[in-house]
Amino acid sequence: MSKNIPAGILATGKALPVGKITNYDLENIVDTSNDWIVERTGIRERRIMTGDESASGLSTRAAVIALERAGLTSAEIDMIIVATVTPDQTLPSAACLVQDKLGAFNASAFDLVAGCTGFLYGLDVAVRYINSGAARHVLLVGVDTLSPIVDWQDRNTCVLFGDGAGAVVLGRVEEGRGVLASKMYSDGSKANLLYIPAGGSTRPATHKTVEGRGHFIKMNGPEVFKFAVTVMVDSINEVLALAGHKATELDLLAPHQANLRIINFACKRLKMKPEQVLINIHRYGNMSSAAIPVVLDEAIEEGKLKAGDLIGLVSFGAGLTWGAAVVRW
Ligand SMILES: CC(C)(COP(=O)(O)OP(=O)(O)OC[C@H]1O[C@@H](n2cnc3c(N)ncnc32)[C@H](O)[C@@H]1OP(=O)(O)O)[C@@H](O)C(=O)NCCC(=O)NCCS
Repeated sequence: MSKNIPAGILATGKALPVGKITNYDLENIVDTSNDWIVERTGIRERRIMTGDESASGLSTRAAVIALERAGLTSAEIDMIIVATVTPDQTLPSAACLVQDKLGAFNASAFDLVAGCTGFLYGLDVAVRYINSGAARHVLLVGVDTLSPIVDWQDRNTCVLFGDGAGAVVLGRVEEGRGVLASKMYSDGSKANLLYIPAGGSTRPATHKTVEGRGHFIKMNGPEVFKFAVTVMVDSINEVLALAGHKATELDLLAPHQANLRIINFACKRLKMKPEQVLINIHRYGNMSSAAIPVVLDEAIEEGKLKAGDLIGLVSFGAGLTWGAAVVRW
């Protein structure tokens, strides 16, 4: 068998909508309070699409930055993966809209649906294409525009989510660098913990589904919480073992940004110091697939993530899905 070509993230970019909703704004929309939201989730504000912003538009903005930083033209991209549960429209994929906007005429393009784990699933796929030599450069975007599918009458969910996009360009790296190991998981028996009842092929849109608020996210928060705490720790430990490392060797952790309490629980169990954990949930809420690429991009800009660092990436989401990766930056 031929040797794997090492693959890693060459550059990152992000794009966030200008619209902002603070917890104080939410106090005027549902029966909630800034104190409750901060204490139970860590979130203070979130970005919201307005005007002509779209998932493909935010993705393209983030991708242009990542491509420029990687020193590549769009023609050098072999594959575009857009991880999202909120493409501009059901057909075609957001990835094809991004491909057109970038003029990436040599790229295949597809969307990947794995809930909030979408970015890590995309990373797993991209790395294996590069490892095998089937692709040289892959553009991976994690984008979610959850504001249109959040029920702004449901305080259990509307306080949690936000919109945004993060992009990475993946390519060949030197031996010993890049994505050292990644592993993805799923458990569809828990599908009803986080779902949208209507709008698919079994319950297409009707007056009844609209009136019944069937096109919005439904979630069993406490059950997702319990699940998340366990899988965050188990999956990062498993992937570290695959890479021949231990949690104590990690320089940094980039966890999914769903709830600060989930992150804190996981970090305590992994015995990581607070300064080793990348956190931006207070500014953006849960941006689903965009959470990890955006937090990585900010860590680079702030000088927290440096060449040579060993970083763990871990996420969970609707499906249910979860996964982790270990990267030598
Ligand atoms: C949603 C979540 C923040 C709720 O926090 P919690 O501590 O579990 O709270 P509970 O759901 O048990 O609700 C406790 C009380 O707060 C209330 N509450 C819920 N949302 C509220 C809000 N925004 N403001 C004020 N009170 C609220 C509930 O109605 C409940 O009241 P009751 O005791 O009178 O019934 C938490 O469960 C969570 O983050 N779960 C994980 C969700 C997640 O990660 N989803 C994305 C996966 S990618």
